[in-house]
Amino acid sequence: MRFKFGKNWKNFAEIITDDKILESEKNLKKFLGLENLKGKTFLDIGSGSGLSSIAARRMGATITSYDYDLESVECTKMVKNKFFRNDNTWKIIQGNVLDLNFCKSLGTFDIIYAWGVLHHTGDQWKAMENIKYNTKDESLIYLALYNDQGSTSKIWKLVKQIYSKVPFFLKPLYVLLMSSYTELKRFLYLSIKFQPLEYFRTFKNYKNNRGMSYWYDMVDWIGGYPFEVSKPHEVFNFFKDNYYLENFHSEGKGKGNNLYLFKKKRERK
Ligand SMILES: C[S@@+](CC[C@H](N)C(=O)[O-])C[C@H]1O[C@@H](n2cnc3c(N)ncnc32)[C@H](O)[C@@H]1O
Repeated sequence: MRFKFGKNWKNFAEIITDDKILESEKNLKKFLGLENLKGKTFLDIGSGSGLSSIAARRMGATITSYDYDLESVECTKMVKNKFFRNDNTWKIIQGNVLDLNFCKSLGTFDIIYAWGVLHHTGDQWKAMENIKYNTKDESLIYLALYNDQGSTSKIWKLVKQIYSKVPFFLKPLYVLLMSSYTELKRFLYLSIKFQPLEYFRTFKNYKNNRGMSYWYDMVDWIGGYPFEVSKPHEVFNFFKDNYYLENFHSEGKGKGNNLYLFKKKRERK
């Protein structure tokens, strides 16, 4: 029933370009509130295509990337070899964020980044517990987690479950059908607000969305399973004892990721 993320990413990796990396860098800078990552260690959990790892590397960080899916690991390696072939400090490994011993074995990092990952593990709360072992005083945790949209989220779960059962040769058609429905809804919504051009602008500027590609994001979105959601206050409460909330952004309706930036409080000695 698991979605093969890596297969999708391998295709995307071939079209990673400098401007996509630049967009990803811009996103990191803006949300982290940091101009560069010189001297910092960066853990990219569920690295997928490797795009964010590349962006963090370009900003000066020392990178460890891991993913559960072997094809994603291969993909991150391919991307690394394309842009940073001679970097011997960059570790890329296969690993599972739900495996506590594995997480502990990695040690601690200045920045722990898990964008769109923990909600696809099958147990996002355990994953959030495990990544705490990768933090030290003042570490930053940057998470993107699906927002709980009530009945809409339940429908999306069903859409994803159906995707996993559709024969492989019909999967692109299924993605097309499902995305046409959401796109039409968005187009009508913007038209009613007298902003139809805004709809086409979003398409044109899609790469500004962390440097991602519309089609690969759609496949990932429609197929991405397991799938869990959470409400912001649940996540705030989960971290509140030992972490400050440094930044928060809700992407709003639709795919509805909530972005969180937590900072580990200093431990009293
Ligand atoms: C939606 S993709 C996001 C990829 C990337 N972080 C990004 O921002 O584009 C989710 C990734 O999480 C990985 N993943 C899923 N479960 C995981 C687990 N238990 N441990 C580590 N990675 C996992 C998937 O293989 C996939 O590459």
